[in-house]
Amino acid sequence: MGGRTTWLLPALLLLFHPGSAAITGPKAVSGLERDSLTVQCQYGPGWELYVKWWCRGADWDSCKFVVKTTGSEQEVKKDRVSIKDNQKNRSFTVTMEKLRLNDADTYWCGIERAGTDLGVQVEVTVDPVTTHCHYGPGWENYVKWWCRDADQNNCIILVQATGSKQGENTNRVYINQSKRMLTMTMSDEKNGL
Ligand SMILES: *[C@@H]1O[C@H](CO)[C@@H](O)[C@H](O)[C@H]1NC(C)=O
Ligand SMILES: *[C@@H]1O[C@H](CO)[C@@H](O)[C@H](O)[C@H]1NC(C)=O
Repeated sequence: MGGRTTWLLPALLLLFHPGSAAITGPKAVSGLERDSLTVQCQYGPGWELYVKWWCRGADWDSCKFVVKTTGSEQEVKKDRVSIKDNQKNRSFTVTMEKLRLNDADTYWCGIERAGTDLGVQVEVTVDPVTTHCHYGPGWENYVKWWCRDADQNNCIILVQATGSKQGENTNRVYINQSKRMLTMTMSDEKNGL
């Protein structure tokens, strides 16, 4: 009898501790700005009909629920985020669309239940979209620009940099003189990029 108790206790602790094997997910996922990303979390048998959720914030106790399922396989969508349970293969998918840089955060995949919910932490990162241009020797001190339109003579200059300083970094253009390279970040939605 005593042997059975000592076996049961650690097994129960393992089963019911948040982040335990009852639910698993990717440790980290990343997506490009304005693109979308999906997170798939899996759960053990018996949890099919429970409500699954996606919560934002590193702190388990104060994270903010973004979307929750209804306990069915019906997809639930809120703003740019949706959640869909696949009870046949015991997994649920969270999709984040039109990603913004400030969507990057620590999130949790979880299952609602009496007492403490089950959950597993997922780190979401959002990378800016960048493009590079190279220039030949002798052009180091010329003004570099990043212009928008098919017609070069009428295009709108979104950013320009003089390129006189080593490693010049304006908000969205980075010039590395030793590589003779411009790196543009296309992340400012206000400029309609
Ligand atoms: C479960 O099924 C869904 C829908 O068919 C699929 O998209 C998903 O990749 C599957 N997940 C696993 C872990 O097999
Ligand atoms: C610029 O490019 C050089 C050569 O590849 C590299 O060593 C250096 O780290 C770059 N500078 C910065 C600030 O990224």
